[in-house]
Amino acid sequence: MHRRHLTAAALAAALLAAWPVAAQDTVKIGLILPMTGPSASTGREIEAAAKLYLQQNGTTVAGKTIELIVRDDTGTADVTKRLAQELVVKDKVSVLAGFGLTPLAAAAAPIATQAKVPQVIMAAATAVTTEASPFIVRTSFTLPQVTVPLAEWSAQNGIKTVVTLVSDYAPGLDAQKAFAERFGKAGGTVVEQLQVPLKNPDFAPFLQRVADAKPDAVFVFVPSGFGAVFMKQFVERGLDKSGIRLIATGDVTDDELLDKIGDVALGTITTHHYSAAHDSAENKAFVQAFQAANGGMRPNFMAVGGYDGMHLIIEALKKTNGATDGQGLVDAMKGMSWTSVRGPVSIDPDTRDIIQNVYVRKVEKRDGGLYNVEFATIEAVKDPVKAAK
Ligand code: PHB
Repeated sequence: MHRRHLTAAALAAALLAAWPVAAQDTVKIGLILPMTGPSASTGREIEAAAKLYLQQNGTTVAGKTIELIVRDDTGTADVTKRLAQELVVKDKVSVLAGFGLTPLAAAAAPIATQAKVPQVIMAAATAVTTEASPFIVRTSFTLPQVTVPLAEWSAQNGIKTVVTLVSDYAPGLDAQKAFAERFGKAGGTVVEQLQVPLKNPDFAPFLQRVADAKPDAVFVFVPSGFGAVFMKQFVERGLDKSGIRLIATGDVTDDELLDKIGDVALGTITTHHYSAAHDSAENKAFVQAFQAANGGMRPNFMAVGGYDGMHLIIEALKKTNGATDGQGLVDAMKGMSWTSVRGPVSIDPDTRDIIQNVYVRKVEKRDGGLYNVEFATIEAVKDPVKAAK
């Protein structure tokens, strides 16, 4: 009896002593994503990619165990902010990550600054977003970064007049401005600039204006997940038979949606930083593993932002030997370079934005599916907005 009692006491003491050590040995990453609502595909893709990264690379780094905590912000900025606060204060996460839309990333930025916790943006793509906190590091892209190469390609390929049509919020306005400036410099004319509400968009009246203006091409940006609705209305208004060419950022011909959009997308020229058809050994292995782990779902550029975001966090922890001081982690991330499944990338130490190749692509049929097939590469592109400052 006596002996058993002692054993129990010793066990309790051992447990008590071990608990704080165990807590310190865990590094928590709070992943805030829209898992429901119109941008749910972004959440689904990034969560799957982050989990795949840990599955492939293990959850132990510098003797610490990585724990991923996924939270659904439903695509609502107030919720993002509250979740960021909770994750920092209650869960004591060392890193905040995810952020499916620009307003969501902006809502969390003050929390990252106050708590001195790195905020790894895996999706949101407005150029100025990284300036909202010195703790932001981005693994997605910026709209001007991918739009400028399309403006140049268009001017060099016989397109003289363009109407631009974008979702009416920060990344759309970024894309519109970048296109107009660069296309104008290259000798083209933007004849009209249209902005469509982000929520429950009805493209029909805007497409009618495009039809009436009869430009050589219409340049489009809508965020990931909205491309199918746009393309459906594009066809319904007869724009596919109007002789007006469709040119877009790769957000519109998103890999997850492309087969659902169907043959009407064939021939569409887009520019972007990732295609599931990117021709490299790293990407072939990634696409195969991602599809095997997710019931055949095709990885899109959001998944790659998530996969590379996890890589950045894990490699930074290796560099700090497991230390989780926020400034130390951000410093470790600055200047980091690696071979991504999208091609070579690095984190610009001055802007904390990603430097990457931008590809010109054409929608084509391959192995029975539709893909954005890359046919030209602009290497190591920096965000042009911050590069100009
Ligand atoms: C954004 O809100 O910054 C955003 C979202 C989805 C995209 C691009 C940009 O595809």
